[in-house]
Amino acid sequence: MTRRTRKIRRAKMKKYLLVIFVLIGMGLIFTVGTAYAIDKEFRKCAGCHKIEEGKKGGMGPNIWGVFGSPAGQVEGYRYSEYLKNSGIIWTRESLQAWLSDRKTRQEYFGKEVKDTKMMWTGIKKEEDMKMILDYLEKMK
Ligand code: HEC
Repeated sequence: MTRRTRKIRRAKMKKYLLVIFVLIGMGLIFTVGTAYAIDKEFRKCAGCHKIEEGKKGGMGPNIWGVFGSPAGQVEGYRYSEYLKNSGIIWTRESLQAWLSDRKTRQEYFGKEVKDTKMMWTGIKKEEDMKMILDYLEKMK
C-alpha cells in the first residue's frame, strides 16, 4: 500500500464517520423533539392527571393504562356517578371523543356526559389529538 492510497482511505473513513455522526445527531434531535412535543401536549392534562404506574392521582385519576380498559376503574379515586356507571371502554375512538369539544362529546356519549367531573374544552388540532392518543396507547 502506498502512502497515497492510505491517505485516500483515511479520507474516505472520515467521510463515513461524519455521515454516521450526522445520522446519530439527527436521530437524537428527533427523539428529544418528539418527547418534548408530547410533554408539552400532556401538560394540558397534567394539572389534573398523573400518568405513572402505581402513583396516586390528583384532581383526576391516574390515567396510566387507561387505554383498552373500562372507565372508572382506578381504585380509591372518587369518580362521578356518571363516569362510574357509564360502561365506556377506552378505545382510540372513545378517547378521541372524550377529549374533543363539548358538542362532539355529547354526540358520542349522549347528553349525560355533562355530568362528568372532567372540565375540558377539547383538543382542537388534529395533530395534537393524534399525539395524545398515541401517547395514551403507549402508556400501559
Ligand atoms: C381540569 C382537570 C382535568 C384536565 C385538565 C383533564 N382531565 Fe381528564 N379527568 C379529570 C377528572 C376529574 C376525571 C374524572 C371524571 C369523572 O369522574 O367524571 C377525568 C377523567 C379522565 C379519563 C377517564 C379515566 C378513567 O379512569 O376512566 C381520561 C381517559 C382522561 N380524563 C384523560 C384526560 C386527558 C388525556 C387530558 C388532557 C388532554 C385530560 N384528561 C385533562 C380531570 C381533568
